[in-house]
Amino acid sequence: MIKGICLIFMFALQHEGASILIKDDGIIEGDANNHMCSRIERYVEENVMLYNETFLEPKTVWCLNIPPKCTRYREAIREINKTIYVPKTKTVFECCEGYVKKNGKCSAICSNGCVHGKCTKPKTCTCEDGWQGPNCTIECDDGWYGEGCKMYCTCQNGATCDKKNGFCDCPPGFAGAFCETVCPQESYGKNCENECHCKNGGVCNFMDRSCVCPPGYVGRYCENQCQDGTYGEKCLNKCSCNDLATIFCSHIDGKCMCVPGWKGDACSSKCDLNTWGSQCSKKCDCPPNAVCDHVTGNCSCQPGWYGTICEKKCPDGYFGKDCKMKCPDCMYLPGNCHYITGQCSCPAGSRGSNCDLGNVLIIHEFE
Ligand SMILES: *[C@@H]1O[C@H](CO)[C@@H](O)[C@H](O)[C@H]1NC(C)=O
Ligand SMILES: *[C@@H]1O[C@H](CO)[C@@H](O)[C@H](O)[C@H]1NC(C)=O
Ligand SMILES: *[C@@H]1O[C@H](CO)[C@@H](O)[C@H](O)[C@H]1NC(C)=O
Ligand SMILES: *[C@@H]1O[C@H](CO)[C@@H](O)[C@H](O)[C@H]1NC(C)=O
Repeated sequence: MIKGICLIFMFALQHEGASILIKDDGIIEGDANNHMCSRIERYVEENVMLYNETFLEPKTVWCLNIPPKCTRYREAIREINKTIYVPKTKTVFECCEGYVKKNGKCSAICSNGCVHGKCTKPKTCTCEDGWQGPNCTIECDDGWYGEGCKMYCTCQNGATCDKKNGFCDCPPGFAGAFCETVCPQESYGKNCENECHCKNGGVCNFMDRSCVCPPGYVGRYCENQCQDGTYGEKCLNKCSCNDLATIFCSHIDGKCMCVPGWKGDACSSKCDLNTWGSQCSKKCDCPPNAVCDHVTGNCSCQPGWYGTICEKKCPDGYFGKDCKMKCPDCMYLPGNCHYITGQCSCPAGSRGSNCDLGNVLIIHEFE
């Protein structure tokens, strides 16, 4: 009969690889390579068992002594409980050094933890794809990805590479598995997903989604013309048109559109003689001795002439435009002067506006 077991643990030898599994209830089951180690354990079994013991049994008998009683002994057998100690050994299976039992399995111990990975061997983390370092806390260096960060990224045009799987994340304006394709003109954005909405001939800058406007237009989509008085690229130029004679200044190239009767880059010149009107494109149709208005084309007499078709010279004593000017007091021809200029006609030797200076030699001829 077994009364109790006293175990004395003695670590003897250890070897890994036993094909067993310790279940939570302590039952050991076979399972290959589960980091179980076996060792021989020595212990002493203490057995208590009934035992027939021989002993000398005393017995009182009559005898010739005084008093007449004597003690005699004889061999007898009695049952007693006797403890016997039996040295024993057994094979014990437990997790190998560096492993600890967890959920019925022996799991490796990484005391610092494996943040982005698993502890696969004692003090050894196996990192998830894209992570490295003893604790799997360091992401792959730029340009590398995958298991152990050993794969080289092949993304182009500045794309970022997924450190886990190497997929390329294209910057705006590029597409393709390696971002090797440039987006066509009308589209922009990541993988060319977005279309440009540039107006008025604006060209899409697929890199940053902006419209590059042609001269004369501004705005996010080039939707606005330059404000009055400005023109050109980004409307940075100021119009230099003569305000008084300009209809408008081109917002594109700054060209001045002149009112009728004016010409020139800045509309600062009147039409040439004998032309008039819009862009000075009309020819004057006036009689001789008349000039035409550069704006209306209306004819008017030249200075010194008058009459319905300007056919008459100014009458004596008058000169100039519409013959409205009175002649000066000419010394040698009183009341008369040049019909256009109003100058006195001075005889040789005289000077001055009235011919009143100098020496006139033949005075009597004018008497
Ligand atoms: C002891 O002896 C008795 C009688 O001889 C026998 O019946 C009994 O089984 C013995 N016990 C043991 C433990 O040997
Ligand atoms: C032996 O031990 C058992 C259990 O302790 C007890 O019941 C029994 O009486 C004992 N026998 C003797 C002879 O002492
Ligand atoms: C790993 O973790 C331990 C403890 O937290 C720390 O001392 C050690 O510096 C870490 N190693 C790295 C490379 O992060
Ligand atoms: C030009 O002539 C027309 C008639 O021929 C006249 O009606 C108009 O008022 C004139 N314009 C000017 C500015 O003189």
